[in-house]
Amino acid sequence: MGISQFLLTSFLLDVLVLYVVNGQPLVPALFIFGDSVVDVGNNNHLSTIVKANFPPYGRDFINHRPTGRFCNGKLASDFTAENLGFTTYPPAYLTKKAKGNNLLIGANFASGSSGYYETTAKLYDAIPLSQQLQYFKEYQKKLVGIAGKSNASSIISGSIYLVSAGSSDFAQNYYINPLLYKVYTPDEFSDILIQSYVKFIQDLYGLGARKIGVTTLPPIGCLPAAITLFGSDSNECVTKFNKDAVSFNNKLNATSQGLQNRLSGLKIVVLDIYQPLYNIVTDPADNGFFEARKACCGTGLLETSILCNAKSVGTCANASEYVFWDGFHPSEATNKILADDLLTSGISLVF
Ligand SMILES: *[C@@H]1O[C@H](CO)[C@@H](O)[C@H](O)[C@H]1NC(C)=O
Ligand SMILES: *[C@@H]1O[C@H](CO)[C@@H](O)[C@H](O)[C@H]1NC(C)=O
Ligand SMILES: *[C@@H]1O[C@H](CO)[C@@H](O)[C@H](O)[C@H]1NC(C)=O
Repeated sequence: MGISQFLLTSFLLDVLVLYVVNGQPLVPALFIFGDSVVDVGNNNHLSTIVKANFPPYGRDFINHRPTGRFCNGKLASDFTAENLGFTTYPPAYLTKKAKGNNLLIGANFASGSSGYYETTAKLYDAIPLSQQLQYFKEYQKKLVGIAGKSNASSIISGSIYLVSAGSSDFAQNYYINPLLYKVYTPDEFSDILIQSYVKFIQDLYGLGARKIGVTTLPPIGCLPAAITLFGSDSNECVTKFNKDAVSFNNKLNATSQGLQNRLSGLKIVVLDIYQPLYNIVTDPADNGFFEARKACCGTGLLETSILCNAKSVGTCANASEYVFWDGFHPSEATNKILADDLLTSGISLVF
């Protein structure tokens, strides 16, 4: 992060602290949709193998508890909730905590290995985005029961909706699935994802959402698992994958602008995680990290979900020195930096 951005972020944090000081969060609630980057425990309740509810996941989280977060600690969306003044996190919708007054601050519908492409979720028995929306509909009925019709409708229209998907569509489906990569070019596949994104946003808008933040794809070619499986011997980011991500992100940006122009009263912000993460990976030392190529868990070359477990040999002692926690997911230390960036670009959703 450059110094000017650092100052801007600190300034914004100060402003937020001033607003939050009366104990009220800046928005009524926070709703989260997407994949493993933001899943906080929904997959624990599915028959999927894509889970993170066992050690060493969560070893640096509150009470050192594995929750289903694909991280050693907090996700960027957890830090975002804190930055907005929430003292707890929106509960994973499929968990026991998702009931009664706990639902007043929102809910998290995300599911590891879900994506814009319906069959990505199906391949891994995850929750497709269409089903996440169905759950959101069901949530709204419960909310009316808890808060009354009029309060429920102001919660729905005044809250922030965070959408984070697409990584699994590429990394866990397109690049390894001949039924896709032999049939579609990356550009064509991106177009299919974008069509599905448009439908998702229109539906979410139809259900009352008015403030939406959507994250870009990360530099997929820099994920440790991508370098291990597809990299050359040079240990450098897979250029082709990063190009695909940039191209997708440009489409996402243009399309979002179009959606905002077309859907009256909608504010939609594209939250860039590509550039900040790319900067950290290519200059780890400058960002306070010691290792960017290998992840902390196990050998750090590939492990994620069931492959990253208590028996993995070689797991690092201090994940704060690592950009990545497992082969696909950033460490809590990286998530903290990303969340500060999200705040800078997403602030217009708040005021
Ligand atoms: C609606 O919100 C107001 C203000 O927060 C609160 O006083 C009231 O009890 C709520 N209504 C219901 C039905 O919960
Ligand atoms: C989206 O496009 C706008 C203008 O076209 C640009 O200023 C902005 O940086 C882009 N955002 C991302 C995340 O690429
Ligand atoms: C872990 O690493 C971070 C970053 O280098 C450092 O600030 C911290 O003190 C370390 N923690 C321990 C317990 O060594």
